Amino acid sequence: MTTPTFPARTIDVALGQRSYPVWIGPGLLADTARWRAALRGRHALVISNTTVAPLYLDRVAEGLAGLRWSSFLLEDGEAHKTFANVGRALDALAQLGATRDACVVALGGGVVGDLAGFSAACWMRGIDFIQMPTTLLSMVDSSVGGKTGVNLPAGKNLVGAFHQPRAVVADTDTLASLPEREYRAGLAEVVKGAAIGDATFFDWLEQHADALKARETGPLTEAIARKVAYKAGVVVRDETEQGERALLNLGHTFGHALETAGQYRVLLHGEGVAIGMLLAAQLSERLGMSEAADTARLQRLLAALGLPTAIPAGMAPEPLLALMRLDKKNLAGALRLILWRGIGRAEIVGGVGEADVMAVLEAATR
Ligand code: NAD
Ligand code: GLY
Repeated sequence: MTTPTFPARTIDVALGQRSYPVWIGPGLLADTARWRAALRGRHALVISNTTVAPLYLDRVAEGLAGLRWSSFLLEDGEAHKTFANVGRALDALAQLGATRDACVVALGGGVVGDLAGFSAACWMRGIDFIQMPTTLLSMVDSSVGGKTGVNLPAGKNLVGAFHQPRAVVADTDTLASLPEREYRAGLAEVVKGAAIGDATFFDWLEQHADALKARETGPLTEAIARKVAYKAGVVVRDETEQGERALLNLGHTFGHALETAGQYRVLLHGEGVAIGMLLAAQLSERLGMSEAADTARLQRLLAALGLPTAIPAGMAPEPLLALMRLDKKNLAGALRLILWRGIGRAEIVGGVGEADVMAVLEAATR
């Protein structure tokens, strides 16, 4: 075990007996004494992928010494977040002889974390799992809050369960190997938290945009901690998304349409969210809910972080609107979107007129 030289931040997700810590900072994977205590039994299955395991599995292996453990590696990519691979993960648990006190360890980005968490939720009707997120997106979003699941041919994330982890180990050193586009896509999720519910954090992001772009450890750890603290608060108040948690989807209806229009090859999810948030801000402004100055600040911050702010060339308004009509949030055929009242104040708005959405899409594709 090595001790990190930079102190880790701890955010607690306060869910009574199911509460858990999110540890954030450099060197945490190697700080095995800290996270090993979260493993209760004698068996562990590490689920990772073929990109991440060669980089970081040895650090995790050190902490598992003395346990009966094995690893199950996915091929890299969203296409492998499938039921078939959950079946393989469960077979690996069976092979291990995993009992009810076994633990699944998810080492990787959101794809690995979602599939590993769902596998843990299924084995013997639910065993422990620990998230070890290695992308910025998974550190600030998917590893926290207990949404787990897989894709079906019919659509993304259609199958899943709420199953909270026992701990989240966000070792910021792992971000050093993350490709630039993936890193920036994670920054969009950081901006999203501030835009929805924390105006002070938004100011702070404006002041630290250059440091964040350069992946400076101090500001990066602070940004992750603030976003996680914000999300943890939402999850504690509305764990199963009966209301407030839906606000975390600011920009998603537009963003998902953009991702789908590009057949998931043109935009990463975070890039779609960045453009989508801006379109949601423009729509809010058009509906008289927010000021042009707020839209401009959002645009400037996204651009300063190196994120796209324009709809990619070749995407037309009509097909984008058609894709938005398929969104799960819609009710009785009317569009239901997360809009905002300026920086730090989002709300769910039903019955949004298609003419207003079209006007915003047309202006953005002109
Ligand atoms: P990802 O898991 O596909 O990771 C992105 C890429 O980075 C992959 O190629 C991966 O192999 C690689 N990678 C991961 N860590 C690395 C590292 N440290 N160094 C080098 N390469 C590394 O994508 P993601 O953006 O982390 O997650 C997206 C997934 O998360 C989607 O499936 C989405 O549905 C899900 N998600 C879930 C929630 C939730 O609440 N459960 C929230 C948001 C997103
Ligand atoms: N990513 C949205 C949520 O966790 O609810």
